[in-house]
Amino acid sequence: MKNILSSFDIIGSKEKKVAIVEISPKLESEKEKIAEQIMSTNKNVKSVLRKISERKGEHRIREFELVAGDNNTEVFHRENNYILKVDPQKTYFSSREGTERQRIAEQVKAGEMVLVMFSGICAYAIAIAKKNSQVGKIFAVEINHDAVEYAKENIRINKVAHLVSLREGDVRKVCVEFFGKCDRVIMPLPLSAKTFLDIAEKCLKKTGMIHYYTIAEENKFGEVEKELKTLVDVRRRYKIKSVRKVLPYAPRKFKICLDIEVF
Ligand SMILES: C[S@@+](CC[C@H](N)C(=O)[O-])C[C@H]1O[C@@H](n2cnc3c(N)ncnc32)[C@H](O)[C@@H]1O
Repeated sequence: MKNILSSFDIIGSKEKKVAIVEISPKLESEKEKIAEQIMSTNKNVKSVLRKISERKGEHRIREFELVAGDNNTEVFHRENNYILKVDPQKTYFSSREGTERQRIAEQVKAGEMVLVMFSGICAYAIAIAKKNSQVGKIFAVEINHDAVEYAKENIRINKVAHLVSLREGDVRKVCVEFFGKCDRVIMPLPLSAKTFLDIAEKCLKKTGMIHYYTIAEENKFGEVEKELKTLVDVRRRYKIKSVRKVLPYAPRKFKICLDIEVF
């Protein structure tokens, strides 16, 4: 129980927060007590959600059990210098990736055309727009209708509508519109980004940068680099600028990001 009480996620702001917790089946009989403890020590937590599945399907959403509090789990999450409206029961969101969003945002230069594939509630797009108001344009593409609705609100709340242009639909179909137009493509869909790499390459201008997310075993990041060589368009040249751990994913596995320069 001690471990649980030190490792749950909290999203939201001081008006309303939601705690997201993992409780093993062994502690089933203790779950209400655990939720009570979380709510009493974190004053603004209004709901406690227990993870009951892995992230699943195209929308990468997990199932939750409401262990305590209000079933309305929509919150305004404050991160860096922006606010994200989100309901974790309806769309993907990870508060643990705020640092990674900043790392990407810091690389974007004035005038750049940026494409965020798999843009969810527009967390990456807004991080970039708030960091660099001189960015050319940020295109965001997302297939989950609920995520798109939150993204629209987030663009409005953060006053970045002049910088972020959102599309609802499948990256494979929608991105034809961006072929040859982008300086940078962000691909935050780790389990299947490789099947969209051809689209990302086509969206780049003659030179550009791809931020490619994937899952790799510890000490085997080199295998991802080898695999990439078999996936890329052989008519272009590539330089892997960095390979970084983003977050632990499973025992001895990590979500990693490769920053790939294409020219
Ligand atoms: C891992 S989540 C990342 C969301 C967001 N970028 C973030 O970091 O919060 C991947 C997102 O891609 C979306 N998605 C999956 N396949 C897609 C496709 N073919 N076209 C557009 N969006 C897709 C999912 O609905 C989900 O919101």
